[in-house]
Amino acid sequence: MEIIITENYDTMSEVAAGIISKTIIGKPDCVLGLATGTTPIGTYNKLIEYYKNKLVSFSKVHTVNLDEYVGLPEEHPQSYHYFMHDMLFDHIDIKKENIHIPCGLGDDLEKNCHDYDAILAEHPTDLQLLGIGGNGHIGFNEPNTPFKSFTHIVELTERTRHDNARLFGFVGSVPKQAITMGIVGICHAQKILVLASGENKADAVHDMVKGDVTPACPASILQLHNDAVLVVDKAAASKL
Ligand code: GLP
Repeated sequence: MEIIITENYDTMSEVAAGIISKTIIGKPDCVLGLATGTTPIGTYNKLIEYYKNKLVSFSKVHTVNLDEYVGLPEEHPQSYHYFMHDMLFDHIDIKKENIHIPCGLGDDLEKNCHDYDAILAEHPTDLQLLGIGGNGHIGFNEPNTPFKSFTHIVELTERTRHDNARLFGFVGSVPKQAITMGIVGICHAQKILVLASGENKADAVHDMVKGDVTPACPASILQLHNDAVLVVDKAAASKL
């Protein structure tokens, strides 16, 4: 895994946006795998800036998102659908029909999972952007998810629900389930770009990079990917 350590969150975001822009410029109809969470917000802000300055266009880009909460309507401010439009899609020239986000609504969630795997098969990802959970999760693949997983429904761990509670106001409002791209879907990407910022990610970053490759730390699988880049600020890199 290539590791780029930056001074702070802003430089991490700039480096990440540069890598993503390079992918788009090299292949204007590329497929980007996108992530939610607070970590990629600075990167999305930079990409919006580059788009406004006409350095990059998303008009032919396709996107596949990692995950979504089960049971939240698209217009719910904490849904990942809402997040992606608010933070990125509404500010760039991407075509609505080129945006794909797993669906956590309806009576047949298993069908939603199969449908999403079909979308992924049609859209081989050129670059997958990832954050990392404090417990080493990627997407919503919680610890001990089998490495051979496809899109599936997960029961969120208490740690993840607590970590994400800050956005919902209180933990009771955080959904208990989510739909997530599996580890197979994530690792099929040609290139993987992982971002981590802040001291609270230092243990997870250490386990991802230096720990055993084990489902106990889902992100550790990235050690086996042949083009994974970690862009990490000094604080999150402090235990490397
Ligand atoms: C959520 C998302 C992950 C994200 C993680 C870390 O659980 N499903 O994709 O990487 O949170 O979020 P943050 O960047 O806010 O720390």
